[in-house]
Amino acid sequence: PPSSGGSGGPQAAKDRLGNDVRASAWLEEHGPGDRSLVQGLQGDATYLVVTESREIERFAINSICTHLGCVVPWNAAENKFICPCHGSQYDAQGKKVRGPAPLSLALAHTSVSDSDVVQLS
Ligand code: FES
Repeated sequence: PPSSGGSGGPQAAKDRLGNDVRASAWLEEHGPGDRSLVQGLQGDATYLVVTESREIERFAINSICTHLGCVVPWNAAENKFICPCHGSQYDAQGKKVRGPAPLSLALAHTSVSDSDVVQLS
């Protein structure tokens, strides 16, 4: 089954083509402050965050709204994630700032393997 991530252990972040995300290539294509989607744990669309010092942030932000599960887009102009379904808002780190969402967006821990692959756990 595709949900092989349930048993713990790091999992490679996948790009939209299903390839492992390489940190060096990602950082060439995504500038400071960028939040772009990868396929994360259990296949959830997840934001990798690029820091102001051009590194992969140590946490990634799950895009699934904690209200009823819509994918929440990043709004760079507002510096927030704003859910299109019922208007919940989350700050740039995924912390809930407006309901009806009951909780902040889930976070995953990021690390970069020896082979440059970005891993989530
Ligand atoms: Fe996001 Fe309802 S699903 S606010």
